[in-house]
Amino acid sequence: MDKKTTILFVTSNLGKLSEAKIALKPFGINVEAFQFNEEISEIQEIQSSNLHFVAADKLTKAVSIVKDSSDKIGVMVEDAGFFLEEFNGFPGVYSAYVHKTLGNQGILRTLNGVENRSAIFRCVIGIYLNGKEIFFEGLCNGQVSKKATGKNGFGYDPIFIPDGGDGRTFAEMNSEEKQIFSHRGKALKKLRDYFEERNQSPTSNHGSES
Ligand code: IMP
Repeated sequence: MDKKTTILFVTSNLGKLSEAKIALKPFGINVEAFQFNEEISEIQEIQSSNLHFVAADKLTKAVSIVKDSSDKIGVMVEDAGFFLEEFNGFPGVYSAYVHKTLGNQGILRTLNGVENRSAIFRCVIGIYLNGKEIFFEGLCNGQVSKKATGKNGFGYDPIFIPDGGDGRTFAEMNSEEKQIFSHRGKALKKLRDYFEERNQSPTSNHGSES
């Protein structure tokens, strides 16, 4: 595949990487992972109550660690969060920490006896393209399940049932099914539309922001 149709995704999350690859491949866009090393093993996230700020900061840091991406169409990052309505959006921007410390079972215990199980997944994709930073957002409304089910996906997938589906959790869906509903699927669709509108993919790299 032409290198100019490749996006460099700066992430260490293999689940996110795989979903981005699957979503963009049919449109001729290849997604490659930035290879972290001993010197740079991850991007440190800032503390902010706003996902967009976190993604914007991540993008600036990603662009500076990548140094040369001249053979790629863009450098991409993503920040996501899981927002529980009953807790005014918590864990939100703290989702990674809460997942690491409490895990899905901890979330289920916390919601034990709580009637309002509504949750929203949000994500912001940031891409550095032709010297510009562009952001695409996606969200997915749903419910926290009563128990963890399914083996696919990652993170909160086993306890999240998207609205509009057939009652399965994300972890019970394959990647293509998850993308129909998911925050990431929606943000990636906006990214695809952006490329298509500007005719930047899959065969041309001559588009530019107006
Ligand atoms: P991050 O900071 O963007 O990596 O994500 C925050 C937390 O949300 C991490 O614990 C992720 O595993 C989780 N997360 C992000 N996206 C998804 C998803 O699509 N499904 C399930 N969990 C997710």
